[in-house]
Amino acid sequence: MCGENILEMKKIVKIFPGVKALDQVDFDARRGEVHCLIGANGAGKSTLMKVLSGAYTEDEGEIYFDNKLLKSHSTEKRRKEGIAVIYQELSLFNELTVGENVYINNYPRTGLGAVDWKKVYSMTQELADGLNIRIDAKAKVSSLNMGQRQLTEIMKALACNAKLIVMDEPSSTLSKSEFEILVKVIHDLKEKGITIIYISHHLEELFVVGDRITVLRDGKFVICKNVAGLTEDSLVEYMTGITICQIENEEAEVHKVSDEVVLELKDMCNYKVSDVNLKLHKGEVLGLYGLVGAGRTEILQSIFGLKPVLQGEIRIHGEKVNFKSSQEAVQHKIGLAPESRKAQGLVLLLPVWENITMVSLPKFKKKAKINYQTINEECRDYVKKLNIKTPSIQTVAGSLSGGNQQKVILAKWLMKDCDILLLDEPTQGIDVVAKEEVYKLIREMTGMGKSIIMVSSELQELLRVSDNIHVIYDGKQVMETNKANFNADQIMHASVIGRCTK
Ligand SMILES: Nc1ncnc2c1ncn2[C@@H]1O[C@H](COP(=O)(O)OP(=O)(O)OP(=O)(O)O)[C@@H](O)[C@H]1O
Ligand SMILES: [Mg+2]
Repeated sequence: MCGENILEMKKIVKIFPGVKALDQVDFDARRGEVHCLIGANGAGKSTLMKVLSGAYTEDEGEIYFDNKLLKSHSTEKRRKEGIAVIYQELSLFNELTVGENVYINNYPRTGLGAVDWKKVYSMTQELADGLNIRIDAKAKVSSLNMGQRQLTEIMKALACNAKLIVMDEPSSTLSKSEFEILVKVIHDLKEKGITIIYISHHLEELFVVGDRITVLRDGKFVICKNVAGLTEDSLVEYMTGITICQIENEEAEVHKVSDEVVLELKDMCNYKVSDVNLKLHKGEVLGLYGLVGAGRTEILQSIFGLKPVLQGEIRIHGEKVNFKSSQEAVQHKIGLAPESRKAQGLVLLLPVWENITMVSLPKFKKKAKINYQTINEECRDYVKKLNIKTPSIQTVAGSLSGGNQQKVILAKWLMKDCDILLLDEPTQGIDVVAKEEVYKLIREMTGMGKSIIMVSSELQELLRVSDNIHVIYDGKQVMETNKANFNADQIMHASVIGRCTK
């Protein structure tokens, strides 16, 4: 049951060089409620939560928690007050066990002062049992899937007796079944009177988990309402300030896919997948759908020369290839925008423009001279097209919001002059409006004769952009369907049970 306010943030202001990230923002949360916080990329959601956790100091405003004015800005003190934040990038140590991570802030000690490992593991197990989740307290975090890592973070918060847990985009890397477990856990936390602040770009989720929704736009408070009185369309309007009919995308023109096969996989096997057969045609978007961990990423990795092909073959324009490295793939005009973009794709200390042009420099070279003016123009063009919120293209990428960093990486690959582009979860963490831009760019690229393989866990977007969809289940290709015959239920079903039920 939702009770009185446990949190009140009043007139919070936070200014970064060139950006007023928070402008007099009011936000409150009740005991035992799930309060969703939404807004476009760069709206100020993460900043507001960092102010709450003490990671950032507000320039103006006051925070009351549990009827007390919070004065100290140390994250440790805030944690002790009962405020836990699970950031967009999880903060677990992969080489430590679940138990070691869960109690890292407050290991139980023996009478002699040593860490009481027996207790660490038994208490971790108790926490897991209390949440009805199955997780091995002694397993290394590196061996866990994303859902289990998320749950480990939640247990870590509970180990510190959190009264309020902030979840910053918890679902962006979760499969549907992992999300369902998360929903159950959130429900149990509510029952225990714990407050959840839930940040997500997946608006449909808010109606499953949320009690109230606060919308931020450009660092300002827009509305706070009960979920019951809201719709997805009204949320988009509050987030963007534009009515839904203005941003409604023009429907995909029916573009013709040519018969020319640019890439073919014949009975391809690698360490994860077996007997994959597919043909990618010029101008086609081929969608790869499946649960997280099904082997979709590994198919892209073999095409790109990152994972050896153990059997079968890959042909590019009819020519059999056996890439030993990604450089060879790049020479054949293939590009890969990887899934974990922050780990694999962004140099945080470099400016936005350098990040965007990093893999495209040869394109801007003429007689050993780099044309910086064209670079400038093209970068600005992408910043505008993808609505990347940044003070300028000179700004270091590390100071951008999570979603805007992802847009930078995406711009980098969209700018690259490749014939075949492999996109792994390209819209993860990207807000609803920018997603439309990404779909438009994909269509523009295929219109120019480029071919794309796109991995996504969002079936709706694959249904929109793909000409053909292949479903992967447990390393095997279990279904292939073309646009004229797309059936969401069948595709979903095949991805879960591993066979086609036509
Ligand atoms: N450390 C920082 N230095 C400079 N600017 C920053 C910093 N952190 C955030 N900003 C800026 O503050 C604004 C709000 O960013 P914030 O990360 O809060 O957005 P967000 O709503 O969480 O977006 P997303 O959905 O992309 O995660 C952005 O313009 C961002 O560039
Ligand atoms: Mg954020």
